[in-house]
Amino acid sequence: MTESSRQKRTIRSFVRRAGRMTPSQERALEELWPKYGIEYDPAFLDLDTLFGRHAERVLEIGFGNGDTLVQAAADHTDIDYIGLEVHEPGVGHCLLRARDMDVNNLRVIAHDAIEVLRDQFADASLDRINLYFPDPWPKKRHHKRRIVNPSFLALAAAKLRPGGTLHIATDWQNYAEHIDEVLSQSEVFRLAARREHDGDQPLDRYTTKFETRGLKRGHRIWDWLYERIAPKA
Ligand SMILES: C[S@@+](CC[C@H](N)C(=O)[O-])C[C@H]1O[C@@H](n2cnc3c(N)ncnc32)[C@H](O)[C@@H]1O
Repeated sequence: MTESSRQKRTIRSFVRRAGRMTPSQERALEELWPKYGIEYDPAFLDLDTLFGRHAERVLEIGFGNGDTLVQAAADHTDIDYIGLEVHEPGVGHCLLRARDMDVNNLRVIAHDAIEVLRDQFADASLDRINLYFPDPWPKKRHHKRRIVNPSFLALAAAKLRPGGTLHIATDWQNYAEHIDEVLSQSEVFRLAARREHDGDQPLDRYTTKFETRGLKRGHRIWDWLYERIAPKA
């Protein structure tokens, strides 16, 4: 393996931070993981067995503290949600929230979304992927860490059924320009809706923690809805 291919394989969209867990988050991880948690394992999940039914499936990448993910699951009990997050305190917070709201249509995987998508989801097994306020990696030398790039889009497209949707939001102008550019070159996604606003016109989603933080700093918000184009026969 060359030096550059070795580097390519290890570039991730996150840096694992130790992060302080509150005692209740730690307890939540122990006690609620058997109900909500799915271990990372390189084998495709049987989603019908996992949820005990066949329903619309939504995957959220980088759910943060999970408040809006749990809210969505509570409000749409006919849909099954899978949340991916690498920050353990956020996962603990999400599990507590899910228990408090008595949510049953949600599962959580605490592992790198790229590996999870690649290894645990069969092609065309998802109806929708949400990527809300991905880390913007503002410094130029860190742009290579941005999760929105051609290989991520190819992976996301493969896991979505034709006509399935990818929803992205950011509060970072330079990332918005990057997203516009990368997706305008995509042959697997078609732009269905785009909004630029002050937090007052999100597409069909709830206002997230990072969005609120960005708005307080005077940032604008960009929202996109992309549709997965059916592969050519
Ligand atoms: C800027 S925060 C946004 C959190 C939340 N979506 C919100 O809007 O409040 C981005 C989150 O994505 C998570 N993340 C980044 N890369 C990830 C990856 N490859 N797999 C899973 N989670 C990831 C980070 O740990 C972080 O919590």
